[in-house]
Amino acid sequence: MSLRKFLNKTIGPIFWSSYGPDLFFKLYTKIEDSKVFLDYCLKLHGTTSCTFNMLSPTQRDFFFQNITNKEKLIVLELGHGPGGLACEVGQLNNCEKLIGIDYSGFIPKKHPRNVHFFKNDLGKINFESKQFDLIYCVDSFYHIQKKERLIKRILNALNENGEFILFCSFTNEEERIDFFELIKKFNVQTFDFTEDDRDYWSKNDNLLKAMEIDFKANYLSDVYAMREKEIEKFKSAHKNQEASRFCFIFKN
Ligand SMILES: C[S@@+](CC[C@H](N)C(=O)[O-])C[C@H]1O[C@@H](n2cnc3c(N)ncnc32)[C@H](O)[C@@H]1O
Repeated sequence: MSLRKFLNKTIGPIFWSSYGPDLFFKLYTKIEDSKVFLDYCLKLHGTTSCTFNMLSPTQRDFFFQNITNKEKLIVLELGHGPGGLACEVGQLNNCEKLIGIDYSGFIPKKHPRNVHFFKNDLGKINFESKQFDLIYCVDSFYHIQKKERLIKRILNALNENGEFILFCSFTNEEERIDFFELIKKFNVQTFDFTEDDRDYWSKNDNLLKAMEIDFKANYLSDVYAMREKEIEKFKSAHKNQEASRFCFIFKN
């Protein structure tokens, strides 16, 4: 086992389960009403809602195209973050009810009445069977240790014809290969957004630099630094051809 893999499997989970909920809660409280951050979301993702994911406008379109053509939906979002995406999905005509789960416990001040948020740890939660028509998870799967067990639990929570849509990125080939090995056991379609993701990070870099003064003048220096570090990591992984991004659609 490589050192990186060892650290990812040992210290990473301890750090994130101890400090993650509080860190994310404070972050979302800060960005929720920030005009600068919402402007950044609009220019980067093409949405006016507050999100903390890595969806390019192309990936967002793909996501919404996949869910708007369906009948009435009872939906579960895993790792809803600041909740902007959940609120958008909740407002769709075909969404009857949406439940969001995130260990930060963050609940946006304004949200549609059919959207409900709960604090819980995805690594520990179990769901009742056949409850949801759609379960999705956007960039919140990284810190889950027992991924196979969670996927099985998710599939068990889906109604017949239900789908689980998962967006995630990999910054090294070892991680990607391990995940592809794991999902061989499931009925899953894979959509490769790696090229689009490369453009997304380069656009993100230019945009963040152009907005540096706005971020810093609005007490968002820590958010700026966090984003800068993330951009550096993904840009360098793309340069070394180690980065990849996918949407996986699982069915029973
Ligand atoms: C990168 S953010 C993605 C936010 C969101 N999906 C969006 O579209 O804006 C990752 C989120 O996953 C949540 N998370 C990470 N590990 C978790 C766990 N084990 N249980 C519940 N939530 C978790 C974090 O609190 C954080 O809000």
